[in-house]
Amino acid sequence: MKRRILVTGGTGYIGSHTVVELQAVGYDVVIIDNLSNSNEEVLDGIEKISGKRPAFVKADCTDMTALRKLFVDYPNIDGIINFAASKAVGESVAKPLLYYRNNLVTLMNLLELMPEFKVKGFVFSSSCTVYGEPDQNPVNENAPIKKAMSPYGNTKQISEEIITDFINSGAPIKSILLRYFNPVGSHPTSEIGELPNGVPQNLIPYLTQTAIGIRKELSVFGDDYNTPDGSCIRDFINVVDLAKAHVKALERMLDDKSDKQLEIFNLGTGVGLSVLQLINAFESATGVKVPHKIVGRRAGDIEKVWADPTRANTVLGWKATTSIEDTMRSAWNWQKKLRERGIM
Ligand code: UD1
Repeated sequence: MKRRILVTGGTGYIGSHTVVELQAVGYDVVIIDNLSNSNEEVLDGIEKISGKRPAFVKADCTDMTALRKLFVDYPNIDGIINFAASKAVGESVAKPLLYYRNNLVTLMNLLELMPEFKVKGFVFSSSCTVYGEPDQNPVNENAPIKKAMSPYGNTKQISEEIITDFINSGAPIKSILLRYFNPVGSHPTSEIGELPNGVPQNLIPYLTQTAIGIRKELSVFGDDYNTPDGSCIRDFINVVDLAKAHVKALERMLDDKSDKQLEIFNLGTGVGLSVLQLINAFESATGVKVPHKIVGRRAGDIEKVWADPTRANTVLGWKATTSIEDTMRSAWNWQKKLRERGIM
């Protein structure tokens, strides 16, 4: 029988790319999403790529009744990938309770239902934000966890602790925590991609919207950091590469490739690129100029962070392979596709 996987937040940016990769290796996917930051057309995009429309339940994971009904309606779920979460750093400062409720109640509801419905594996979307400003780069999984700079970041830290405590209590589940660095780019078909609401807060959507003329110019937040060109350094990881790591993580748990109940993996390329280098990479990969200016630092930004992905490479058998140029082209093609479709 095909394995059945519940993907919460499966119509979102990383979720939708992961659904496609799960379907590609034969998993039966059920999506739950409240569409708070996505829309149902994403399902059309997924279907165009994979030829298969995933089952979809429009509901909020904080709603225990709806969630329980899903597990009854779709029995024999083997694993869960939990993407359902609010993720805007600035908004989390303005609306902390919204973030704690959405992100933590969702997590607790899912964990609580797992033993009851005999769900074995849980993949959690965590973030390099748990490392704060690291003492050294690249960062491996043993680097200390720093005090979170925002309620959003704090929900990731608390979520990791909740999962750890639940497993330590003897819960009959396995979990893998995936700490993402900076996911960027789109599916090479341009059928799915990142669709932020309103003015983008993250670098790549702002950059591609500037390149296409929706925004006048991109502000580079600071050129006086202690980095070679003065702008911040990040580890930009292609979203399809990232999605594939989720498949590996699930297989590891469901096939009992490890007897550990809880494992943590950094997902990054291992290469740090500065904001200015990324703009250059976009321009040379696409031939499109991005008007930009240097402005002051953005509060709360980390100066430099990039991954040591050795553990994911060796233990999970996963590696980021897409070049930054291909990733930048995919982001640009997606932006152009949004224009063709009259969305932006
Ligand atoms: C943030 C979060 C991260 C989260 C991610 C996705 C922190 C510390 N980081 O990452 O956990 O997963 O968002 O929501 O909480 N930049 C500009 N101009 C812009 C936009 C960004 O110069 O218009 C710069 C930023 O200063 C930063 C880099 O680009 O140096 C990347 O920014 P962004 O894409 O927002 O991601 P992070 O802040 O790294």
